[in-house]
Amino acid sequence: MTVLYTGIAELVTNDPELGVLTDAAFVTAGDVVLWVGQASAAPAADERVFLGERAVVPGFVDSHSHLVFAGDRGAEFAARMAGQPYDGGGIAATMAATRAASDAELRALVAARVAEMRAQGTTTVEIKSGYGLSVAEEARALAIAAEFTSETTFLGAHVVPPGVGRAEYVDLVTGQMLTACAEHARWIDVFCEPGSAHAFDADEARAVLSAGRAAGLGLRVHGNQLGPGPGVALAVELGAASVDHCTYLTDADVDALANSDTVATLLPGVEFSTRSPYPDARRLLDAGVTVALATDCNPGTCYSSSMPFMIALAVREMGMTVTEALWAATAGGAKALRRTDIGVLAPGKRADFTVLDAPSHLHLAYRPGVPIVVGGSGRP
Ligand code: NIG
Ligand code: FE
Repeated sequence: MTVLYTGIAELVTNDPELGVLTDAAFVTAGDVVLWVGQASAAPAADERVFLGERAVVPGFVDSHSHLVFAGDRGAEFAARMAGQPYDGGGIAATMAATRAASDAELRALVAARVAEMRAQGTTTVEIKSGYGLSVAEEARALAIAAEFTSETTFLGAHVVPPGVGRAEYVDLVTGQMLTACAEHARWIDVFCEPGSAHAFDADEARAVLSAGRAAGLGLRVHGNQLGPGPGVALAVELGAASVDHCTYLTDADVDALANSDTVATLLPGVEFSTRSPYPDARRLLDAGVTVALATDCNPGTCYSSSMPFMIALAVREMGMTVTEALWAATAGGAKALRRTDIGVLAPGKRADFTVLDAPSHLHLAYRPGVPIVVGGSGRP
């Protein structure tokens, strides 16, 4: 069945780059876009939906989240707001709470978070493991994540769990754990942050990523979050799809990214929730780096599932225009996931769209914190 959507004051298509139409319409056939153009030229369809002269944007692509967890770290957040630094040490508390949760409890927690994302306009979400940190628990986390998305990421190398030797743990992650997890995962990720006692250095991260690649997984990296480090260089060298955080970058890091297919995924909710300096998105964009925005939704560094909030932060704190931030939250996220079927509203692409209760996408940053998403295809 074909559906013609009209009453669109503004349609952001991202086709070509940053494409915006006014008085627009589009036609879908099931999951796929058939036609996009001016309302006056719209073809007939089986059904017609009037959207009330609102703005329509591509569904948000949240390319970085850690939704499979139990427990609460509100007190850790409050301590940070009182001056405590973040070092990844709280991950062990979430690991314990997650291990203690039943499959049904964990599944219900993920379902509620995915529903929260959909309600805020996210149509694709990547979900990482990383709070199980044993063979059985990481495999369980990924099996549950796979019930909600095909963009699943094995993050056994999140931190070294308490009581386990560092070398022994890297052997486990690259051996038995990888074998158990690869069937449920599309990607592998590593928290590469030599400055943190809990995370992994360049050699360990290289071992993890190389093993993942040999197992057929695509590569992603958490890098340069807490200080300058080797994460970006390693991600570019190994051809990772994305390196995420990118808060502390040298000129060499920016050059390397600009000359690569690796996307720099910025997670401004983390800087908001850890009271840290924001990454310099303007510097990356001006150098020609492809930038994505994502939530990083997790109980430690950013317990927000809201892509509109990330867009508002990116505009207010990171030097992006609203249009650039929206592109990064849609087409940029698609590139970070190496997907060509989403992030763009054009014939042949997936009909993943989000309706704003606003005349223009500018309201995504102009009206922060309001329930601006009122409709859309809502499909993670
Ligand atoms: O992406 N930096 C590493 N991992 C997560 C935070 C995990 C946690 O503190 O629970 C992140 O920020
Ligand atoms: Fe993360």
